[in-house]
Amino acid sequence: MTPEIVASDALDAATRAGLWRLWASAFDDFEDTDGAHAFGGLHALLREGTEVLAHASVVPRRVLIGREAWAVGYVEAVAVAPARQHQRLGTAVMAALQDLLPDRYPAAMLATGEHGFYERLGWERWRGPSHVVRGGVRVRTPEDDDALMVLRLPGSRGLDLGAPVACEDRPGDAW
Ligand SMILES: CC(C)(COP(=O)(O)OP(=O)(O)OC[C@H]1O[C@@H](n2cnc3c(N)ncnc32)[C@H](O)[C@@H]1OP(=O)(O)O)[C@@H](O)C(=O)NCCC(=O)NCCS
Repeated sequence: MTPEIVASDALDAATRAGLWRLWASAFDDFEDTDGAHAFGGLHALLREGTEVLAHASVVPRRVLIGREAWAVGYVEAVAVAPARQHQRLGTAVMAALQDLLPDRYPAAMLATGEHGFYERLGWERWRGPSHVVRGGVRVRTPEDDDALMVLRLPGSRGLDLGAPVACEDRPGDAW
């Protein structure tokens, strides 16, 4: 199965509904804000009829690394239907998404508890302290330090994985 690539604004209502069903089935604690974060970029999808079996998306985010602003690709809402996990569908949607990244972003980031899945795909753990910029003030987010991962791309030269990193705030989880 080859994943389809669809821009958020080209997703029809049936596919959006299928995505929300997928996320509700794959995650224990998926919030509306988590779903909202998945839109605004590109999606890699595998579908069967009206159901979405696997999904990963990337959205643009501005992140401060040290003192420098980076326009990274932020990967969101990666999920595979429970009955179809461990059949390489997650790998397939991530690989399709990752193929698009070098032409669009200097680096990609994501937050996860499933580090092993992403390490196989070339991702590395962020080592520096994480923050959110809230009301113009940089606030530490120590609870997110372990979750952050980065994928180095051809534009990543000079990227220091031990540097402090800060995202802009948003509704729901900042990272
Ligand atoms: C994590 C997830 C996307 C992986 O998708 P998948 O299609 O099941 O994974 P794949 O079959 O492509 O994985 C290939 C290999 O990656 C490794 N792998 C998969 N999930 C892993 C995990 N959570 N931790 C470590 N390694 C993992 C395994 O070696 C796996 O091979 P195996 O199934 O033979 O053991 C899927 O399990 C899922 O939707 N989980 C619930 C939602 C979630 O946690 N999403 C990610 C949060 S950011």
